[in-house]
Amino acid sequence: MDSISLKWKYVIATLIILLFIIGLFSLYNLKYQEKVIKDDDKERVRLITEIIKNGLITIMLEGRGKDFQKFLESLVAEDIEEVRIFDPSNSTIVASSIPREIGNKIYNEDILKYKSQIKPEVFSHKRGQRVVYSMLVPIYNERPCQRCHGKDHKIRGVLDVEISTMKTMSKIKTLRVRMIIFSLLTFLALGGALTVVTNLLVTRPVEAMIKTMKKVEEGDLSVRVDEQRGDEIGRLAASFNSMVRELQRAHEEIQRCHVEEMKRVERMANLGELAAAVAHEIKNPLAGISGAVQVIAEEFRDDDSKKEIVSDILSEIERLDKTVRDLLVFAKPTSPKKVSVDMSSVIERSVGLVRAKAEKQNIKIVTNFASDVTVRVDPEQLAQVFLNIMLNAIHAMPEGGTLTINHYMEEKNIVIDIKDTGQGIEPDKLKNIFKPFFTTKHTGTGLGLSISKNIVEAHGGDIEVFSEPGIGTTFRIKIPAT
Ligand SMILES: Nc1ncnc2c1ncn2[C@@H]1O[C@H](COP(=O)(O)OP(=O)(O)OP(=O)(O)O)[C@@H](O)[C@H]1O
Ligand SMILES: [Mg+2]
Repeated sequence: MDSISLKWKYVIATLIILLFIIGLFSLYNLKYQEKVIKDDDKERVRLITEIIKNGLITIMLEGRGKDFQKFLESLVAEDIEEVRIFDPSNSTIVASSIPREIGNKIYNEDILKYKSQIKPEVFSHKRGQRVVYSMLVPIYNERPCQRCHGKDHKIRGVLDVEISTMKTMSKIKTLRVRMIIFSLLTFLALGGALTVVTNLLVTRPVEAMIKTMKKVEEGDLSVRVDEQRGDEIGRLAASFNSMVRELQRAHEEIQRCHVEEMKRVERMANLGELAAAVAHEIKNPLAGISGAVQVIAEEFRDDDSKKEIVSDILSEIERLDKTVRDLLVFAKPTSPKKVSVDMSSVIERSVGLVRAKAEKQNIKIVTNFASDVTVRVDPEQLAQVFLNIMLNAIHAMPEGGTLTINHYMEEKNIVIDIKDTGQGIEPDKLKNIFKPFFTTKHTGTGLGLSISKNIVEAHGGDIEVFSEPGIGTTFRIKIPAT
């Protein structure tokens, strides 16, 4: 049933209902017409009987008793099958259209019917194979009759007229055939009209819409359906068109963004290449300068005031070196070289690097590690991530505070929370902190978090930040354990 089209479902359902209604109506009509035909014919039988009876009485009154039998015999025509008179007192046939039955006993059922009827009525009954209409009418011994027949009997005899039902049956048969043909034609005409109307009003517009939808599905968003109609299909078409328009707009927007993104990526790639080339060029001379300055530094005595200037130069060189290294990592990220390591040891390594600096700034370091969490990660890269975040945290707590590092399992991820009690990050800055070169520091490059995010994402994880200005900041790193 599901594979049948909506049009056929609707047409079949309606035809079944029509068939039922037309059938019921025709049956009722047929029964009614049959009754009318039968009643008409019974009335005809009653009239014929009445005429015969009057004819008989006239013959009797005119004293033509010998014409009596002849009259009965002359009555037999195609419709009138048998006419007889019987004496109800002894059930004997006294006159008949069939002369040989005179003197015979009348049929028992006629006697019973005659006795049970209150007044004469037409009834149908079987005579052998045939069905006939009969009427049993008493002929009373009226005053004029009594002149010849005396007053002994109240009833002179009973007239029994039998008339064929053939005509009635043939009329009913014709009626039935006509009714069946008429019902079938009505059914076919209604069914055909219904199919055509459904086609015009529903199927065609729906099919047109389906065709258009298919085109949309294939990617052609310029097509529209006709929405001129004021009915539900028109409204559906209007909604569909507005949906496609919206889709087209969104599609164009996505394409525009895509082109822009491609351009941006290309620009970044070019910039990255350039940054990497510049950083590479700076790196070697910087190493040379650093070595040379260290040699010079050794030439000064510890109490020489110039030694301080030289050590400032060295720390600036170190900062330059870090910037160059960050630029190189950012511009040319390497894919993680994963090995199985204990996560605690990776974090410990980064903590070890910042401990002295933290103590100097009066910062307490609290760690809370889940035991035995072995993961496959690049320990160098992750240590770099933790170091970047811890250095930022220490930088955010110039007056001292607490740096808390927790790690734990959550579903299939290992989660590392690095929390500080520093100045926090304003909401308008929060959305920018992972962007490259975003910094609020005089000496920062703004690459630390951007590099960290790239590394975490290269491990299939992600990094989140929660911060409340004046209270502190938490960085949450999630890395899939498997
Ligand atoms: N824990 C923190 N508390 C407050 N602000 C923070 C914290 N971590 C990062 N930020 C803000 O995010 C900015 C970007 O950090 P990011 O590490 O990327 O660069 P940076 O620290 O400024 O420079 P660098 O490249 O030397 O790390 C910082 O300048 C700072 O404003
Ligand atoms: Mg930083």
